[in-house]
Amino acid sequence: MIDDLWYKNGVFYCLSVGTYMDANGDGVGDFKGLLRRLDYLQGLGITAIWLMPFQPSPGKDDGYDIADYYGVDPRYGSLGDFVEFTHGCRQRGMRVIIDLVVNHTSDAHPWFCDARSSPDSQYRDWYVWADKKPANAGKGMVFPGVQKSTWTRDKEAGAWYFHRFYDFQPDLNTSNPHVQAEILKIMGFWIQLGVSGFRMDAVPFVIATKGAKVRNPIEQYDMLRSLREFLQWRQGNAIILAEANVLPETDMEYFGDDGDRMHMMFNFHVNQHLFYALASADSRPLAKALQATKPRPATAQWGLFLRNHDELDLGRLTKAQRNVVFEKFGRDKNMQLYDRGIRRRLAPMLGGDRRRLELAYSLMCTLPGTPVIRYGDEIGMGDDLDLPERNCARTPMQWSTEPHAGFTESDRPCAPVIDKGPYGYEHVNAAKQRRDPNSMLNWTERIVRMRKEVPEIGWGDFKVIAARDPAVLVMRYDWRNNSVLFVHNLDEKPREVSFAVGLPGDAGNLLVNLLSEDHSKANERGKHMLMLEAYAYRWYRVGGLDYLLKRSDIDTDATGKTSHPA
Ligand code: GLC
Repeated sequence: MIDDLWYKNGVFYCLSVGTYMDANGDGVGDFKGLLRRLDYLQGLGITAIWLMPFQPSPGKDDGYDIADYYGVDPRYGSLGDFVEFTHGCRQRGMRVIIDLVVNHTSDAHPWFCDARSSPDSQYRDWYVWADKKPANAGKGMVFPGVQKSTWTRDKEAGAWYFHRFYDFQPDLNTSNPHVQAEILKIMGFWIQLGVSGFRMDAVPFVIATKGAKVRNPIEQYDMLRSLREFLQWRQGNAIILAEANVLPETDMEYFGDDGDRMHMMFNFHVNQHLFYALASADSRPLAKALQATKPRPATAQWGLFLRNHDELDLGRLTKAQRNVVFEKFGRDKNMQLYDRGIRRRLAPMLGGDRRRLELAYSLMCTLPGTPVIRYGDEIGMGDDLDLPERNCARTPMQWSTEPHAGFTESDRPCAPVIDKGPYGYEHVNAAKQRRDPNSMLNWTERIVRMRKEVPEIGWGDFKVIAARDPAVLVMRYDWRNNSVLFVHNLDEKPREVSFAVGLPGDAGNLLVNLLSEDHSKANERGKHMLMLEAYAYRWYRVGGLDYLLKRSDIDTDATGKTSHPA
């Protein structure tokens, strides 16, 4: 088994160039600015940056409406600046993955302009058309409440076109082999410029059958294998991280039974149940979600996240569960979005309570997968609910107490920096937190460092251990003759728990705390008794700190027997 796949045990960080750092003073973040901030990211310990779309775009959906797949939006810089940036990342040992947004283009894309101009256009079939308004035009909207339809009549074309998302995002006809070939070309292009892979946007829609007569779209999973084959041929260690908010039953379709499709997927299922656990202090549905998403090929990995640039989608919870989360984290209508989620940032959702933030982060770092941090969450940034829809959580990075939080010298930043209330940049910024040894930033840096030293999470097999208290989640990972164990108290009250590590003999008798001197010895019945303060989290190594000396070169199960061929 190869154990150096970089995405299996990394820490990812997602950001958008336009709101990170503006070096040329026009109010918009750019690649030059980002390049200057790479030392910050390296210091944080992240291993890969996921960049949101930066290609030329009318910017009606924050760049997810691309007008040219082979360029850099001039506001962010040039292709030259981009290559300087990927080079800078490589120099510091960080990878770059970029968004691959190929379910749709912008309606300003030259392909669409050409396609709509005539039925004979060579690009006509690159999109999805109908002569009459399709019967299902009022169904399948991704942004209910904002988006009215999935089909719109185009005057110039004299026909209706399909758009899963907003009407300015016409869907590409992804079944068309020419479109498929173009997608590969796009991937090949950016690989050549130094990226290590893609966060693939809206994957279930990309691979679904599309058309006026399609009532129930069918996912063409084989397409995923073609993408992977191409990528692996061009660059062996590049990956695709799929955005696919799907049911656990279909996970293996996306990963491929032989691990021959997507390398990574975001674990939306666990994400929603994790927020439910934080809201209800009941870990049982989360434990179920972990179990349901357990099957995956050895080379595949989950992307584990708390918040991202979209709304916190709670659509997979039961109505009662969803209401608990709304009640706790997004009571006002203004905090909710698209009838299914919450648009706030993490820190305000958790009441700015450091104990709850650490608990949430500790969970993100210790649940099975590779953690993905949203920029600004490492300093506990807030949101601006006066901004429309998802924009509230896309405000500029807060670097310092300089004007506009040190993001720009321009008087007119592309998005207003948060300058009021407890999350205003005068209180919450990276410069201040750098100087404070107990800041969120320095805590995040330490937890990231520790996370990287626990490859058992990325590689090992996990077990949820019964603690007989739903508020407490106990998990053990085993990998290569070593075990680690994590305990989280979701409750606002202290708890006392007792549990057995569950390893044969006396192997589980000593738990060495990785974050403090508070170790635990089992009693004569082999049980650990822990007093947990409110929102406590504990990271333990089972046994001692001689684990690196004990680590085997091959995969063994908890009893030391070989579990995989080497
Ligand atoms: C994905 C993105 C979202 C975007 C949409 C359309 O869901 O995460 O931000 O609006 O795709 O491309």
